[in-house]
Amino acid sequence: MAQKSMKIYLNGKLVPEEEAKLSVFDRCFLYGDGVFEGIAVWNRAPFRADAHLDRLFAGLDYLHIESPLDRAGWLDVFDEIVAANDMEDGYLRLQLSRGEGMSSIKWERRLLRKPEPNVVVIPIPGFRDYYKGLFAQKAEQGLRGVVVSRPRIASAAIPSGMKHCNYLNSVLGAIEVTDAKVDIGVAVDRDGFVTEGIAYNLFIVKNGGLVTAPLDRDILPGITRDVVLELARGAGIRAEEKLFDAYAMTTADEIFICSTLELAVPVVEIDGRKIGSGKPGPVTRRMGEMLIAEMDAEAARYHASRKKGGARKAAGKRG
Ligand SMILES: Cc1ncc(COP(=O)(O)O)c(C=O)c1O
Repeated sequence: MAQKSMKIYLNGKLVPEEEAKLSVFDRCFLYGDGVFEGIAVWNRAPFRADAHLDRLFAGLDYLHIESPLDRAGWLDVFDEIVAANDMEDGYLRLQLSRGEGMSSIKWERRLLRKPEPNVVVIPIPGFRDYYKGLFAQKAEQGLRGVVVSRPRIASAAIPSGMKHCNYLNSVLGAIEVTDAKVDIGVAVDRDGFVTEGIAYNLFIVKNGGLVTAPLDRDILPGITRDVVLELARGAGIRAEEKLFDAYAMTTADEIFICSTLELAVPVVEIDGRKIGSGKPGPVTRRMGEMLIAEMDAEAARYHASRKKGGARKAAGKRG
């Protein structure tokens, strides 16, 4: 069946996807000079939009790129995209580059062909369809993974707190995953500690408690990781952020990965080693259910607050 043409947000306007085109001089294309976000839409509401915007603004500030919209402006844009694409649920891929330049690395506004950022938000509807389809079977069976050979890019080279557009490290990991005919790739740092997955954070479960790598180890501070920690602690489940190595990982009772796109998915095998019983475990299942319940609850809160306050008021340019 032909896919419905999406309305893409491009530099302030919603345009049909066929018309959503960018210049060959775009700095993200030339240098990976930009940041992005992947935001879940659930029951017509962006999930944890404020946390995504915090991460976006922090990355932009660090790169000396000015956001064209403040917090309230972005929230209005998300609502517009959801309405224009009749999105019950899905994924918003927000991408923002420095603007347009020539073949020089020089970044100063006065030297750019277009000093204003290029901004794109691509809606990918159909989260629930994705979860009900092939993904549901995979999640039911549990995923298989490998530890990929390359460590994550060290934060000393590119700060890992930013969701920057330099994803070749992950792409190389994804090539190893395909070659190994498995589902996911796990990364370790130069000291052999597990950091995260190639596009997801990772938790191990041991004796009923959760452990994930601390944020100062070259990892992306995933929004879903944060929600999992918050939900676990709220439910009285021990949840620690501490270092662990591949041995601790493969001898854990359960492993799951989490991200905006995957939510929380069980991993049952790594490097050919069975994890725990080799089947998705109860703690992982519970975290997945709690995550969905939180997404339902937050969507209800979001709509109630939007109804009460209309469009959110901007508190200064960057809210
Ligand atoms: C390297 C990496 N780690 C973790 C995550 C999960 O982050 P989030 O929960 O904010 O989607 C992602 C998501 O794309 C990622 O690319």
